[in-house]
Amino acid sequence: MTVLERTRLDIRPLSVFTGAEIHGVDLREPLDDETTAEIRAALLRWKVIFFRDQHINHAQHLAFARRFGKPTAAHPYDGHPPEGYPQIRTISSKSTTGRRGDRWHTDVTGVINPPAGSILRAGQVPPYGGDTLFTNLAAAYAHLSTPLRTLVDGLWARHQFGGYNGDLDNATVYAQKVRSNPNAADHAVVRVHPETGERVLFVNPGFTRRINDVAESESRHLLNLLFEEISRPEYQVRFRWAPGSLAFWDNRASAHQGPGDFAYLDTERVLYRITLEGDVPVGIDGRPSRLIAGQPFTAFDTPAGAPQ
Ligand SMILES: [Fe+2]
Repeated sequence: MTVLERTRLDIRPLSVFTGAEIHGVDLREPLDDETTAEIRAALLRWKVIFFRDQHINHAQHLAFARRFGKPTAAHPYDGHPPEGYPQIRTISSKSTTGRRGDRWHTDVTGVINPPAGSILRAGQVPPYGGDTLFTNLAAAYAHLSTPLRTLVDGLWARHQFGGYNGDLDNATVYAQKVRSNPNAADHAVVRVHPETGERVLFVNPGFTRRINDVAESESRHLLNLLFEEISRPEYQVRFRWAPGSLAFWDNRASAHQGPGDFAYLDTERVLYRITLEGDVPVGIDGRPSRLIAGQPFTAFDTPAGAPQ
C-alpha cells in the first residue's frame, strides 16, 4: 500500500431510515480530513452512527469529538465528569438522581441552543439489557399527512427540564438544582436543519412541556399525536451496547430513549457522553428560538460553558 491509498469507510445501514454502523476506522488514531468528512456525511444521512470494538479512553473520546465540533461542559446540571475531563458526562444506571433517560428525548432541548450532536461511549455495559433506541425526526416530519404538516409548520413549543410530564416536580437534589437555575426555551415545532436543510419534527416528551398559544387540552392532544409519530417503529433502530461501542447522533434530527430495563439488573451500566455545542434552532419562517430562562449551553472553554 502506498501512502496515497486509503481504505474507504465501510458503512452498514441498520434500517431504512435510521442508524448505520461504521467499520474500517481506528478511533485511537487522529482522524484525517477525508475520513472526518465521510463520517459527518454518514451522520447527516443516518442520524445516528455506531462504531464497534473501539476501545478508546477519555482523551481519545474528546479528541474524536473535537473533530466534529466544540465540546460543551458535561451537562447544565448533573454532569458527574471523570476527574480531569469536565466535558464528559458520566451516565450510570445506579445514579442517585433517579434519572434514567427512559423517555424519548433529544438531548438538552430545554436550552436555547440544544447540542448539535452527542457522542456516547460504552464504559461498563452488561452482557444484555440496557439497549438504546433512536428515531429519525426528519422522517417523522416527512411522512406526516399534508394537512398535519401544514398545521405543525406554524406551531411553537415550550421546552424545559422535566418535560411533558413535569418529571422534576419533586424534591430530588436534581430537581432542586433545576428549579434554582431554570433553563427554558421556545423552539419551532418544525426546525430547519442547518446543514441538510431538512425539516425536522423537533418535539420530545423528555423536554417539550406544551404547545404555545393553544388550550392546554389541545396542547396535550397535539403532543401525544406528535410523540406517537416520532416513536413509530419504522423510524427506530435499537442499539445493543458492548465493550468498545460508540454511538454518535445528530441531536438536531433525532431522539433517543433508554428503555430502562437495566434498572432491573444488578450490574451497573456506565456510559460516557460528550455533547457538541449547537446553534440556535430556526423555524421554517426563519425565526430563531426564544430564550425563556437560563443561559446558552456553550463550549466548555467559554465562561458560559463552565459547569454549574
Ligand atoms: Fe439522552
